Order: sequence, then C-alpha cells, then structure tokens
Amino acid sequence: MRRFRRLRQTEEMRSFVRETSITVRDLICPLFVREGKNIREEIPSMPGVFRYSLDLLDGILTQIIKAGIPAVLLFGIPERKDERGSGAYDPEGITQRAIRLMKERYPSLIVIADICLCEYTSHGHCGLVSGGQILNDETLPLLAKAAVTNADAGADIVAPSDMMDGRVAVIRQALDESGHGNVPVLSYSAKYASGYYGPFRDAAGSAPQFGDRRSYQMDPANAREAFREMQDDLEEGADMLIVKPALAYLDILRTAREKFPVPLIAYNVSGEYAMVKAASQMGWIDERRIVMENLTAMKRAGADRIITYHALDAAGWLSEQ
Ligand code: PBG
Ligand code: ZN
Repeated sequence: MRRFRRLRQTEEMRSFVRETSITVRDLICPLFVREGKNIREEIPSMPGVFRYSLDLLDGILTQIIKAGIPAVLLFGIPERKDERGSGAYDPEGITQRAIRLMKERYPSLIVIADICLCEYTSHGHCGLVSGGQILNDETLPLLAKAAVTNADAGADIVAPSDMMDGRVAVIRQALDESGHGNVPVLSYSAKYASGYYGPFRDAAGSAPQFGDRRSYQMDPANAREAFREMQDDLEEGADMLIVKPALAYLDILRTAREKFPVPLIAYNVSGEYAMVKAASQMGWIDERRIVMENLTAMKRAGADRIITYHALDAAGWLSEQ
C-alpha cells in the first residue's frame, strides 16, 4: 500500500522531507519615516507598525539588525505635499536624510528606497496630473531624480513602484550617468490595482484625491500582461522583480519563477497584514501559524524574498524553532 503518511509521522521526518524553508535572510522589512521629532505613531489599520521620526529610528533599526533581517524598504512621509511631489526628489527630502543617517550608523543594512510620487503629491497620484489625467512621460524625469537623490544619499537599491511606462530605462540611465552604475533597480513590475493597499494609504496619507490608480496599475483579471510588464522591465534594465500583492497573485509568482531567471520578490502588502492582524486580535485565527503558512506559500510559489510587515514577528518565531 502507498503510505504517504510514513513521511509525516514525526517532526524530524517531516522536517527531513520538507521542500520549502524560510529563513530570516528571506525577509525585507518595510519602514515608514516621517518629519518631526520624538514621533513613534502606530498606524491604526496596521497594529504593530509605526511611523518614526528620524530621531527615533535607532530603536527599530537595532531590532531589525539584531533579528538578522538583511534589508529594509523605505517609505517617506513628508511635512508638505505639492502638485509635483517635490519631496520625492529633494536632496534634503525625508527619505534622503533617513538614508544618510541609516547608512552612516548601520552600513551593513541593505536600504531599498521605494521610488514614487504618491506619498509626496497633494493629489495622491503616482505621477504628474493634468486635466484629470495621470501623465506618463512628463513624470519620468521626476522619478529619475528621485532615484538619483536617494542613490546619492546611499540607497543600496532603488525600487520604482509608480507603474509609469518606461521608467526603468530612464532610471537606469540616470543612475549610470550620475555615478551609480552599481545601484540595482528592483522593479515593481507586476503591480496590480488592488484593494489590498488600503492600510498603506492610511499609513502614508497617499490615497488618490480623485479617481483611482487603474489607468497605471494592472487589472487584477490579467496574468499574461504581467509577464509582458516583467519582460519589458528586464529589457529596460531591471535587476530584480516584484509581484504585488502576494497572496491573491501566487499564480503570477509561480509562472514568473518559471519564465524569468532573476531574483523574484513577493510583496505581502498592508491589506494582507491587516486582515491577519484583525482576525488574530479577535481570537479567530492563530497569528503565528497563519503568518508562517502565508510566507511559506509565497516561497513555495516561487518568491526568493518577501517584503512583509510581519518581518520582525516572523524573525522572532524563526529563531525559536
Ligand atoms: C506607492 C506604493 C504603494 C505600496 C507600495 N508602494 C501604494 C499604492 O500603490 O497605492 C503598497 C504597499 C502596501 O499596501 O503594503 N506607489
Ligand atoms: Zn505611488
């Protein structure tokens, strides 16, 4: 008789035949920095995730490094927003200053700068706006400036999340021309227009003030188009790719894994985090179990690395095993 259960009898045996494993080295921790002093404010829809002013960054960075998490993904919340999202590419902007500070004190931590305008624009869109339209080509030089100023500050990787066409090529060229030929581009290639970004937009105050992002982010119904986006970003010079969100898009991750021999990163987004937190606070699910199951599913589907707000919790649980 075929007995599949033979290999499931003990934890030692299960562990011996386990196909997928997660380590702390797989995790990337998002980090929100903001203007001001002495601020550490919890994001209401993301319990356990905080916005930090620069003077209070040390605590969280020490925790991240102690936990063995290799990288952070940095988002900035500026004091003032304007039509052109100036804060995104100001050499003295919030992320640029944060990166300088972080690289000075914690040089071994990999700092990934998210490149977009939406946290910095008064209208909340990821590109320039005119006549109710989100302009593509006019936005590109601003994204390139954001990439260069963050690289100047010391960012190890830049990650454009705007979904304008052609941005990877423009960013690559701008980096090369400014002496940052060795700064990799991690492209949010398959980024869907998703309801799962709701809590992030609370966190960053970046909800669009009119309309939505469907004219630039992808339609959740499309898979083939994601591979065209990824192919195109690789041709434009992307070094690594992101699929976002993760859980509802594991099919995209799986197929991308088969098609593209590059580092592939899943973004376990804010809404996915919020659902797990809410249900576990209600006592309806076992948080630790669900988080580890979700992260395992992302790796099993093909992710090499995972951006997740659970990073510190998961690192703690992994160290207990
Ligand atoms: C900015 C950006 C967003 C996220 C990452 N970068 C928000 C958006 O596109 O509206 C989402 C992250 C999350 O939900 O965790 N373009
Ligand atoms: Zn954006």
